[in-house]
Amino acid sequence: MITKEENERLCLVHPGSAMGEVFRRYWMPFALAGELAEPDGPPIRVRLLGEDLVAFRDTSGAVGLVEAYCSHRRAPLFYGRNEECGLRCVYHGWKFDRAGTCVDLPTEPPTSRFREHVGITAYPTWEGGGLLWAYMGPPGSEPPPPDYEWLRVPPTHFRVSKTVEACNFLQGLEGGIDTAHSSYLHNLDITNPNQLRVLDGHPKLEIEYTDYGYSYASLRRIGEGRVYLRVYQFVMPFQQMRAGLIDFYGNPSAMPSIGGHIWVPIDDYNTAVFNWAYGPDEGSPITDEQWDAYEEKFGRSPADFIPGTYRLRRNAGNDYLIDRELQKYKTFTGIEGINTQDYAIQEGMGAICDRTREHPGTTDRAVLAARRLLLEAAERVAAGQPPRGTEPASYRGVRASETVTEERIPWQEAIGAGVKATW
Ligand code: FES
Ligand SMILES: [Fe+2]
Repeated sequence: MITKEENERLCLVHPGSAMGEVFRRYWMPFALAGELAEPDGPPIRVRLLGEDLVAFRDTSGAVGLVEAYCSHRRAPLFYGRNEECGLRCVYHGWKFDRAGTCVDLPTEPPTSRFREHVGITAYPTWEGGGLLWAYMGPPGSEPPPPDYEWLRVPPTHFRVSKTVEACNFLQGLEGGIDTAHSSYLHNLDITNPNQLRVLDGHPKLEIEYTDYGYSYASLRRIGEGRVYLRVYQFVMPFQQMRAGLIDFYGNPSAMPSIGGHIWVPIDDYNTAVFNWAYGPDEGSPITDEQWDAYEEKFGRSPADFIPGTYRLRRNAGNDYLIDRELQKYKTFTGIEGINTQDYAIQEGMGAICDRTREHPGTTDRAVLAARRLLLEAAERVAAGQPPRGTEPASYRGVRASETVTEERIPWQEAIGAGVKATW
């Protein structure tokens, strides 16, 4: 249980908030690279940490991320003309380049120097892993570009997708680092008790703090002295890494991979979720068929989206199309799509969960640890220090893993080099 003040400090990300300042110390993905498919193509609206922005790919192919409104009389730049290395406001023709500099001001005499004083806010961008990233912190203080293992994987072995969730980022993140719920919420066959995650519904959690956040092991005793071991990574401030090497029954999974999510705050009440996955070695490329089946399992088939959006067709407005018959006889929730099940719970808590009324138990230790690190980051940033996980060297060598092992072997030994990046 935490106080109302702590909850607000953890959750609120709007300009001027403590956690907003934390996020502004990191590179954050804000769109799929394909959303800005070609130079001089249509701009897109972006909302990040409660700020309205517009992104465009200029003539050179570089991506600009600027404030949504023109500095002249605040016309929306989304309708702007993307031309000759800049975005031109269609109200009176002022033009801005991707650094936010006003490069043409046709309503003033050619001799005017007014142009030098009317630049707009612009944030540095970076492109990698099929994503567009932004740094919104103090100018000139951006950390080196991100270097998660998945950013170094060849395109044949890597995939990424995007979903938008209607709740605060922390509800999503806390779901991602809560291994225990997968024994319940994601039980897709209640008639079969022989699932690794069902055999032990109270996993033991062991957390090791690191310079990027923490690594944690979940240990489920599955009988005959054996243990189902999953090692997760939490990379500050918003990323989960987990393994998908074996299926619910201990067989090799249909798409052996390491996957994860990044929860990027759109504002205090909405979150963009980037879902990535990669094959752990040369021998595990990801085929279109595998990826399509994987996304379908998670509830992200093309047909699962409201056309033209990243929001799901199964949503709070229709109770996620819960099927009570299915719930009675087959799956724990009666809701289709593993991540749709997550959204039903996370969005259903309300836009910001009232954590003053919760009762965390022994399986919630990783969730509490993440909160601790986020609050620590807020303190560090307020004191002018860099928070954990901004330095790529701290996390570039790690990955998530899982295995079935024996109870008598220490888990660190059992996982061994499994948690070391090889790409
Ligand atoms: S409002 Fe943009 S040019 Fe006038
Ligand atoms: Fe989940």
